[in-house]
Amino acid sequence: MTKTVLLTGGLGFIGSHTYVALVEAGYRVIILDDLSNAKASVQTRLAQITQQNEVRFYQGSVLDRGLLDRIFKQEDVTAVIHFAAKKAVGESTTDPIGYFETNISGLLNLLQAMKAAEVWNLVFSSSATVYGDATKVPTPEDSPLSSTNPYGYTKLAGEQILNQAAMADPWVFGILRYFNPVGAHPSGLIGEDPQDIPNNLVPYIAKVATGELSALQVFGDDYPTRDGTGERDYVHVMDLARGHVLSLGALLANGTSHTVNLGTGRAYSVLEVADAYEKASGRAVPRIIKPRRAGDVAISQADVTRAGQLLNFEARFDIHDMCQSSWHWISTGAQDAASDEPSGQ
Ligand code: WQD
Repeated sequence: MTKTVLLTGGLGFIGSHTYVALVEAGYRVIILDDLSNAKASVQTRLAQITQQNEVRFYQGSVLDRGLLDRIFKQEDVTAVIHFAAKKAVGESTTDPIGYFETNISGLLNLLQAMKAAEVWNLVFSSSATVYGDATKVPTPEDSPLSSTNPYGYTKLAGEQILNQAAMADPWVFGILRYFNPVGAHPSGLIGEDPQDIPNNLVPYIAKVATGELSALQVFGDDYPTRDGTGERDYVHVMDLARGHVLSLGALLANGTSHTVNLGTGRAYSVLEVADAYEKASGRAVPRIIKPRRAGDVAISQADVTRAGQLLNFEARFDIHDMCQSSWHWISTGAQDAASDEPSGQ
């Protein structure tokens, strides 16, 4: 029988790619999104990619308990993948309470609605940020956890809430710790679409390549790394999306929870990413060396052993694929993403 999955934040960057992967894997998928950081027109793109007439969409917030109850009453939901959250580290330091409300109260509200509906299967978006300044690199899942900003705190708290809730009720969850998600769907129809000047490296580089921004500011070249710039485990959003399908499949099949890193197990420096983007786009990416950015670590890299063992997950795409798909999206699809605006119910 076809299983129904509810995606909160399903029109966002990772949610939209996961929508496609789930439909392709044979699930019926419903989206809840409040459009606070996504466009309604993503629905049209998703319908186009998956060759469906429409996307089943509810417009609203995970903080709206009445709406959640209505969705669980109307739809025969087997599992929830919970993407809906705020994710900007800098913003979280100036608006911590806003982050606690969306990310922690939102999760609690969702868990209460799921419990009332007796839906116990949940995939939770966590982040490598829970490792803080990791003591061991590549970093395995059983490493010490810490947070250095309110955003990171909400992810750590979310994990702890799930672990403790599962001691009282029959929750089965997949906690997925994303490393640095980049890239876009190969169609160029969906991708990452930051509203303002991007904080993250690849979206920033993309705007330098188009000429919208003049140069990449490289935050520090005196780290103890190969070329002195920060190294990160960039993972293609298409791989990440497949990771969610594998996580969901594993928790439904085994009835046991897991906490798993999603990365490639390889790290690239800022300069290596800029070089790869130049190659993929055929455009110049000028760089200016700046001081280190507060709160950054030298290297973040996943130990992907457990992802392989528990989920049979292995990243298929490399940094070149990530830059190429990002450029395809930025140079073709992203501009007219705001054209048509279908509404929710
Ligand atoms: C990558 C590297 C920068 C921009 C953040 C969050 C994390 C996660 C993903 C979210 C670093 C350097 C960047 C620029 C640069 N969360 N850089 N110039 O910091 O690893 O992770 O996003 O949901 O929680 O902390 O990613 O892309 O910002 O930076 O030199 O203009 O690029 O210093 O070495 P980060 P990033």
